[in-house]
Amino acid sequence: MNNIDSINHVRGKSVYLDDIPVQKGTLHAVILGSPVAHGKILHLNISKAEALQGVVKVFTPKDITGINQIGGIIEDEPLFADGEVHFNGQAVALVVAKDEHTARKALKLIDLKIEEHEAVIDPRTAKEKGLLLIPPRTFRLGDVASAWSKCDYIFEGKAESGGQEHLYIETQGAYAYPVDNGSIKIHSSTQGPTAVQKTISKVLGIPMNRIEVDVARLGGGFGGKEDQASGFAAMVALASFVLQKPVKLSLHRLDDMRMTGKRHPYSSDFKIGLSKDLKILAYQTTLYQNGGAAADLSPAIMERTLFHSTNCYFIPNTEVTTYSCKTNLPPNTAFRGFGGPQGMFVIESAIAKAANELNIPAKKIQERNFLKDNDEFPYGQIAKSVNIGNCLNSANKLFEIEKTEKEVAEFNSKNEQFKKGMALMPICFGISFTNTSMNQARALVHIYQDGSIGVSTGAIEMGQGVNTKMAQIASKVFSVDIKRVKLESTNTSRVANTSPTAASSGADLNGNAVLIACNELLKRLKSSAAKMLNCNADEISLKNELVLKNGQATDIGWEKLIMTTHLSRISLTENGHYSTPTIFFDKTKEKGHPFAYHVYGTAIVTITLDCLRGTYEIDDVLIVHDFGNSINPTIDKGQVEGAVVQGIGWVTMEEIAFNKSGKLLSNSLSTYKVPDIYSAPKVLDCQPLETEGPDFAILKSKAVGEPPFMYGIGAFFAIQNAIKAFNPNYKIDFDAPLTPEKVLMRLYSKA
Ligand code: MTE
Ligand code: HPA
Ligand code: MOS
Repeated sequence: MNNIDSINHVRGKSVYLDDIPVQKGTLHAVILGSPVAHGKILHLNISKAEALQGVVKVFTPKDITGINQIGGIIEDEPLFADGEVHFNGQAVALVVAKDEHTARKALKLIDLKIEEHEAVIDPRTAKEKGLLLIPPRTFRLGDVASAWSKCDYIFEGKAESGGQEHLYIETQGAYAYPVDNGSIKIHSSTQGPTAVQKTISKVLGIPMNRIEVDVARLGGGFGGKEDQASGFAAMVALASFVLQKPVKLSLHRLDDMRMTGKRHPYSSDFKIGLSKDLKILAYQTTLYQNGGAAADLSPAIMERTLFHSTNCYFIPNTEVTTYSCKTNLPPNTAFRGFGGPQGMFVIESAIAKAANELNIPAKKIQERNFLKDNDEFPYGQIAKSVNIGNCLNSANKLFEIEKTEKEVAEFNSKNEQFKKGMALMPICFGISFTNTSMNQARALVHIYQDGSIGVSTGAIEMGQGVNTKMAQIASKVFSVDIKRVKLESTNTSRVANTSPTAASSGADLNGNAVLIACNELLKRLKSSAAKMLNCNADEISLKNELVLKNGQATDIGWEKLIMTTHLSRISLTENGHYSTPTIFFDKTKEKGHPFAYHVYGTAIVTITLDCLRGTYEIDDVLIVHDFGNSINPTIDKGQVEGAVVQGIGWVTMEEIAFNKSGKLLSNSLSTYKVPDIYSAPKVLDCQPLETEGPDFAILKSKAVGEPPFMYGIGAFFAIQNAIKAFNPNYKIDFDAPLTPEKVLMRLYSKA
């Protein structure tokens, strides 16, 4: 089953925000972003800009009809800077004009004077100054303090991981217009239509039922539109509401890069203790999250960092503390993995450090400490159906890892300029929003009189193929051709109170809601068919668009069944509601059972390093991944491939640079490098682990969106191993991304 959107995508026919035909008289908006990262606004004069011909209005905080507040978790973020600015690019005003060109011209006529203050861009400095977004949190298991004395080896170190630009192909934007009764309709490129609706409701001061948010699809989100689409949508909605005109905003790439938050950089201290036989007995770490100028989703991201800080290992004594630090960067936000990769990078660094000091392969420590069934996670959940060992066993067989290890060693002994490096990257990722209440979804299913089916859910299609999966579920329940099923746009008037499509749980949550609605309709159809055939409903089944009685074909086809059911005045519409059972979390104890299940897998990453130039190529990434019983292997494989390359980009070439005063230097695609086809692995082989799949996954098909991102982390350690093979004086350190420039310095470092 291919992605139902593929054909329109490759023909350029799929409609994204900027493709929506706009109404006559649509106005265009551009944002004035603060030119400095921190300061006091001394003076803001918009009169010259407003006087420019074609400019309709310049919006500032005083034009807000509701409240100047867009913070989702914590109310700490104004829509327009009021009195002070806290990051470079922060919205100060919005120019609305007859066209974009005029609006841009008017930007230059705004007279803005800011008294610049010192900018804090480093999280540890922020912590020292007491600048925290929320109080710190600690997860504990066992007793680290008393465990150190039992360790034969103890190692300490520091790990740094960098930010990451989402670089969705479609930039942020929204298009709003007034409709009847003082209401507003808005198309937004968002992963969270309800978040957009709520934010607009606050900013405009009108109830949610007056705001209809509609999303056909996104040209990528990757977490960057879970929360951050809301501010842009609110600006457009405000302008449209006040002016009673259609208004559109579609960010230029450079504005998008400058104004939006990214993956959180983290700086961490770790301490790891092992026994002689390589059991990790104790692990302690403190992580400083660079949150940026407002909380945004940082508290939830910090929480997931805690959840994944021991990756797929059982460590009986663990203590992990995280600080969410307030800096003068754009508020950092969700990005594939949601803080998990940052936590996992630190434990993998600690293991690599221990392996280096003990002069053994990291794999020995990794394997020795894999989670097993009934082990306890630091957050209290008991591990069940743990597949990490199975994935490695299967990878050993399929990919002959030991043979490859020997080949790498042999290559390195024979070559001077080129060295190879290998690393094992096992993963464990929890599925469910860590905030239990968000694990719910609804679906609205209509069967029309002609037998065609319309499905609406709260899920956003952003390239991950969720719409195809939803269509598959409906077509499977009714046993009809998938061409009969149409996925409607995601619309807050059809499906309300949605959680964002995030946490890899879009298909699980919304798919289960579709399943519930379709099964209820199926029940009705069966009893209707039973009446037509004068039998009991339990004798009826549907197969290949035909009604069967006791397994035998009848002359009633799908279309006849539907029309007859409708004429009998039976509803062909159903609303399904799903909420994940059994999950809970008690924040006062930091213990619970937050995840429906975990996704496991392991990757072996091999790279070749040019030791003259510091450049490297990814030879292969060999994976055994636990998909459960995948409902769409083609889409799921695509998710793995995309995620792996995105993960490799994060730890190798994607380097975000701010100068000391908080100005983004890597502000375009010539200074910020993402992997292209040449930096993708030459071989990416992902084999599924043979398993049944957990009950809480949709049709036992496990969530797939984020977990494979973490395989990419293996590239960091593979490159590190190649550097070690070249330079015996290299003192290993953990500073991601490991760009060719940094590699070169480490290749020739002298102790
Ligand atoms: N794949 C594509 N093509 N585009 C995206 O924006 N986002 C990722 C992942 N895969 C993304 C993607 C992220 S961050 C998440 S949380 C999941 O998809 C969300 O979709 P799902 O819950 O349906 O898996
Ligand atoms: N994952 C992703 N997005 C989220 C989460 C989460 O656990 N919680 C809130 N938004
Ligand atoms: Mo994904 S970071 O949960 O949108």
